[in-house]
Amino acid sequence: MGPSHQLSRQVDLSSHPRRVEASGKTVLPGFIDSHTHLAFAGTREMEFELRLQGATYQEIAAKGGGIKSTVQKTRQAGKEELFAIGKRRLDQMLSLGTTTVEAKSGYGLSVEGEIKMLEVLRDLDRAHPADVVPTFMGAHEIPPEYAGRKDDYVRLVIEEMIPAVAEKKLAVFCDVFCEEGVFSPEDSRRILEAGRRYGLEVKIHADELTSLGGAELAAEIGAASADHLLFASEKGMERMAARGVVATLLPGTAFFLFLGRYAPARKMMERGVTVALASDFNPGSCMTQSLPLITTLACTQMRMTPAEAILGITLHAARALKKEEDIGSLEPGKQADIVILDIPDYRHLSYHFGINHVWKVVKKGRVVWENPSLP
Ligand code: NIG
Ligand code: FE
Repeated sequence: MGPSHQLSRQVDLSSHPRRVEASGKTVLPGFIDSHTHLAFAGTREMEFELRLQGATYQEIAAKGGGIKSTVQKTRQAGKEELFAIGKRRLDQMLSLGTTTVEAKSGYGLSVEGEIKMLEVLRDLDRAHPADVVPTFMGAHEIPPEYAGRKDDYVRLVIEEMIPAVAEKKLAVFCDVFCEEGVFSPEDSRRILEAGRRYGLEVKIHADELTSLGGAELAAEIGAASADHLLFASEKGMERMAARGVVATLLPGTAFFLFLGRYAPARKMMERGVTVALASDFNPGSCMTQSLPLITTLACTQMRMTPAEAILGITLHAARALKKEEDIGSLEPGKQADIVILDIPDYRHLSYHFGINHVWKVVKKGRVVWENPSLP
């Protein structure tokens, strides 16, 4: 990091065949959104209003709203429709500087429904300049036809969904919503171990709304990341640090659900945990694709510094996706995924919030987006 006269001593910029003049701008690695639920149909603004009137996320879910209502709409949507929705959302992300997006299934909750979502994600990855990293999340909720039969559903995930997804090579990661009323730590362990056996890397939605031991489980099974972690225990954080599990914090969700608390980012960093930041983009608990906004929340609500927040959406996010060899920093040998911002200093990304400062986006060495409103 530093001003250009220092950098040009390390890298001979003048001889580079594809030169982009960026004097007076700020150049950062392309942003990496390492936790999203990108490919959902329909939106849930009604629930937003209900929550403003006092209903909680869990109460809405218990009445058949929440994830289940998005499952219904996503099951009804055809692949072309989901692709068009996803493409538009990826365009918006790219315009905000995001060049790599992790995206989860989890609104199909049947073998066909999950495969449909993952095939759409594969097609989006092929068609769009942004890279899409697919995660299988059949264990996102218990679908209505399995109400009261959770164990049967867990068996379906383990015995049918995971083998089918693995056989078609449709996912890199396997994720589970480990939460009270959804999947217990024991269910989660069984599902994630099955994913492992089929060659999937592991992630967990852990300790988001209650303290269930998700952080400990993530450490025990060596997950790439544990995500949310508002209620992570002291022991859980220490074990994550020891095992090298990345903590992916999602302050947009804590903000949008007005939970009145945020994950203890500083405590985690003091204990040596690598902290990544992501949007958690989804229609219920965080309807934003803006990583710059997430950095502002990380700074103001979790007391991260602007530099720590930028690491959270670049190098540390790359680590959460096990892609730090290729992306996440501007170094010789890595992919040229670059965002050029019309700001005088990197701190302005979090400090001057609520507008888009992105000037140009470079993906794999090619300019893939230019801001029409910035000269
Ligand atoms: O990360 N926690 C589970 N999944 C999402 C919410 C998905 C939804 O509400 O549709 C989350 O918060
Ligand atoms: Fe999530």
